[in-house]
Amino acid sequence: MKPGDNDTPGTGIGDGTRAVRAGLPEPVKYEPTLPGPVFAAHFHLPGEPTGPYTYGRDENPTWTHLERAIGELEAPGEDVETLAFASGMAAISAVLFSQLRAGDTVVLPTDGYQVLPLVREQLTAYGVEVRTAPTGDDAQLGVLDGAKLLWIETPSNPGLDVCDLRRIVEVAHAQGTLVAVDNTLATPLGQRPLELGADFSVASGTKMLTGHGDLLLGYVASRDAGLMSSVRRWRKIVGAIPGPMEAWLAHRSLATLHLRAERQTANALALAEVLRGRPEVTGLRYPGLPDDPAHKIAAQQMRRFGCVVSFSLPTRAHAERFLEALRLVDDATSFGGVRSTAERRGRWGGDAVPEGFIRFSAGAEDPQDLVADVLRALDESAY
Ligand SMILES: Cc1ncc(COP(=O)(O)O)c(C=O)c1O
Repeated sequence: MKPGDNDTPGTGIGDGTRAVRAGLPEPVKYEPTLPGPVFAAHFHLPGEPTGPYTYGRDENPTWTHLERAIGELEAPGEDVETLAFASGMAAISAVLFSQLRAGDTVVLPTDGYQVLPLVREQLTAYGVEVRTAPTGDDAQLGVLDGAKLLWIETPSNPGLDVCDLRRIVEVAHAQGTLVAVDNTLATPLGQRPLELGADFSVASGTKMLTGHGDLLLGYVASRDAGLMSSVRRWRKIVGAIPGPMEAWLAHRSLATLHLRAERQTANALALAEVLRGRPEVTGLRYPGLPDDPAHKIAAQQMRRFGCVVSFSLPTRAHAERFLEALRLVDDATSFGGVRSTAERRGRWGGDAVPEGFIRFSAGAEDPQDLVADVLRALDESAY
């Protein structure tokens, strides 16, 4: 499928149509299109305690609508199960800690989200062997032998490397290894890991999925009911559940996901193109740039290339001056919001990046305004 293609073969509708209708219940006269958040710790439950709604840590009708919506976007026309969580980390931990036991081996990326090293420490403390390898060049395949689970982040955050999902899944499955893909950066409109063969698609909904920088959320989606029952059990034990208000806001935000993704992806490409021409910029990465090292594989498996662009300025001071000079771009962490954000990633200390490394998240501003702001800030910070 070509990037930006809107149709999903076999389903008859495009991404925009699917996004605005995703997860909506059948219309009921005098009821709203998307029912409001259900605030309930418990539900009336005389007699036998059977579902669908018993206790608020196990189920909530607002989650049900959201989970259906995400499932429809992750795997249109297929029967997938989705579970919503309080945050992306809650979703990631649910998969790792529900699937792995002492004595098992897991493969993580070396260049993934900066909390993964903490996860690694915790898994090791529980007796799980953790191997790591970079995302690029499908290097995780080199340490896969005998692993129970492979954790992939493609594109990786913040380095934006990409691995060949189809190829990796094929090798992993041939030796009985489960594959989970962190789909945060791409969103389901950018990439559908389950269609590419993964067992789990996992993401932070805090980023572009919901796009307004006003809530934390996560989810796990899978076709495999057996795997999902252990993830559900983990959610019940740990209780890392989304609040009904967050779940409802997230669902409401999905209606604009297609519009936001289109604009933000176009803005990211426009920025990458101008950054490419600047002498002070090095290490520019954006999988949507035709000459990016990841472009070939990305174009095979992604439908949109995301809103994050990464690059380096010569020094930490130069990067700080640049961030300070930006007027339309907030200096903030996270990414995927409708308002552009950028940060000097090295300030956290967790990523192996140069001191002047910037992770830039393109928002939904007018492209000419955003590009002009970035060029002006580059000029002003150049001294
Ligand atoms: C790729 C990726 N995965 C997972 C997470 C964690 O998500 P959350 O902050 O919602 O827990 C993040 C957060 O930045 C991320 O960038």
